Amino acid sequence: MNNIAVTIWHFMNNINNDLQILNFNTDSRTLKEIQKRRTFAIISHPDAGKTTLTEKLLLFGGAIQQAGAVKSRKTEKKATSDFLSIEQERGISVSSSVMKFNYKGYEINLLDTPGHKDFSEDTYRVLTAVDCAVMIIDSAKGVEPQTQKLMEVCRMRNTPIITFINKLDREGLEPLEIFADIEEKLQIECTPITWPIGMGKRFQGVYHLHNNELGLFSAGYTPKDGDGVVIKDLADKKLDEYLRNQAQELRDDVELLQGASYPFDMDEYLKGSQTPVFFGSAINNFGVREMLDSFVEIAPSPSIRKTSTRDVDPREREFSGFTFKIQANMDPAHRDRIAFFRICSGKFTRGMKVKHHRIGKDVIISNATIFMAQERSNIDEAYPGDIIGIHNHGTIKIGDTFTEKEPLKFTGIPSFAPEHFRRVILKNPLKTKALQKGLFQLAEEGTIQVFRPKINNDYILGAVGVLQFDVTMSRLMAEYSVAAAYEPIDFSVARWVTCDNDERLKEFIRKNSGAIATDSEGWTAFLTTSEYQLGFAVEAWPDIKFHKTREYN
Ligand code: G4P
Repeated sequence: MNNIAVTIWHFMNNINNDLQILNFNTDSRTLKEIQKRRTFAIISHPDAGKTTLTEKLLLFGGAIQQAGAVKSRKTEKKATSDFLSIEQERGISVSSSVMKFNYKGYEINLLDTPGHKDFSEDTYRVLTAVDCAVMIIDSAKGVEPQTQKLMEVCRMRNTPIITFINKLDREGLEPLEIFADIEEKLQIECTPITWPIGMGKRFQGVYHLHNNELGLFSAGYTPKDGDGVVIKDLADKKLDEYLRNQAQELRDDVELLQGASYPFDMDEYLKGSQTPVFFGSAINNFGVREMLDSFVEIAPSPSIRKTSTRDVDPREREFSGFTFKIQANMDPAHRDRIAFFRICSGKFTRGMKVKHHRIGKDVIISNATIFMAQERSNIDEAYPGDIIGIHNHGTIKIGDTFTEKEPLKFTGIPSFAPEHFRRVILKNPLKTKALQKGLFQLAEEGTIQVFRPKINNDYILGAVGVLQFDVTMSRLMAEYSVAAAYEPIDFSVARWVTCDNDERLKEFIRKNSGAIATDSEGWTAFLTTSEYQLGFAVEAWPDIKFHKTREYN
């Protein structure tokens, strides 16, 4: 067994021991299904290659038959994971989606996060529903700002991260320079699993440091299982045969790495403080299989989830889960509304009765959907780690918990203080009701945040990324026949305010009435023009708490 396999073997042995100690009364088939689940997202800066890598993964998993959606995106403006027309117009993914595929017996749920520069709260919330992430770094650019932002979110939950350094077919930074950049900007140790042999025109492939296997690069050729050349050790003459004058470079690199890099440590990786690194070229489907093979082995199966009262183990017999995303009109032909629901424990079966705790009612889930690339189909059963889509007419909101009995509330599904604001101007006053309804529903979906000022009847919209405003406007028109426009507004900072002393909060609201608004959930927010102004308020009102995030009700 190679090093990585030995580590995994010990680790799985510990898990199996745990399994025997803990008795959740769950049948062995369900336990097996849980162990097979891998639920993850890809995080990257725009253009690093997320769409390309997604498609290669789906190809490996047999979920799509043909690549080329990246190319056709330019001509047909269409990508496998895009749903809304605004995404198609711009050739970008505004809304996140879910894709399920099977690889070597593992059931993989890939949750897509928008890859464009400007992203919404959806992106953050998707990351609350995964157990691990794959981070793509463009080898020529190193760590870019959006990756840094997304990593901050992963860090909140110590999400384990696997890194794929892409575009080795082009000239880029030296691998150790990229490691230094990752370690400095993202505060995570890098441990190489594969190592590149040259780059750009001199790119010959990758060497698997744990399997002693050589993957040879040939542009446009997708390596298959068994293509790799296994060598005894680096002194093996085969190395010179295949790599010629670059063989010695590889030997020198590996020797250097022994002193300069960290060995793979499963615990450190699972804690999110070390990232295993792979090199390749997604567009050439090179290095992807090596990454996927290790991914299924080391990525954690569904993890324990926190609720406001206790931790929920995926192996518990009782069904539970939460909604992290709502999307309307995913398919214009259906005009439906789907709640994306992450199963946290227990087995889902079609037609099962669950408690919808926010509204205090029992509901029967008879038409849950599972997402397979472009298609969705009804499912009969699903397990922890799976994402199911539940059709509804506005009865399910983000953060809603369903369980069989116990009233649980999963935590860590945040709403973020918006950083951009607009005032809505209605073009036809007769459409006030439709505007109200549209904005309310879009706020429930998490598309936008809606604030009503204390001192007037304006609608102020708040967003984490400005593209949310375009999405809102186009959906108001398409789905609610409301023609509206935006006006700039001076606010740039919002904080939800609370206070242990009710009287004090009332006084704060009274004295700052021009800056006070209520959001669509009824929470009081303080809106102001700058961080500087916020600082004044914080200093003047020490007993008021100013919150940058709030949990869904
Ligand atoms: P994103 O979703 O992260 O935004 O990135 P996407 O996959 O769309 O890739 C961004 C660009 O990078 C695309 O080029 C894509 O072809 C290219 N790319 C992806 N992987 C590799 C790689 O391994 N090597 C090289 N050299 N390029 C790669 P584009 O010019 O925007 O589109 P296209 O003309 O190639 O379709």
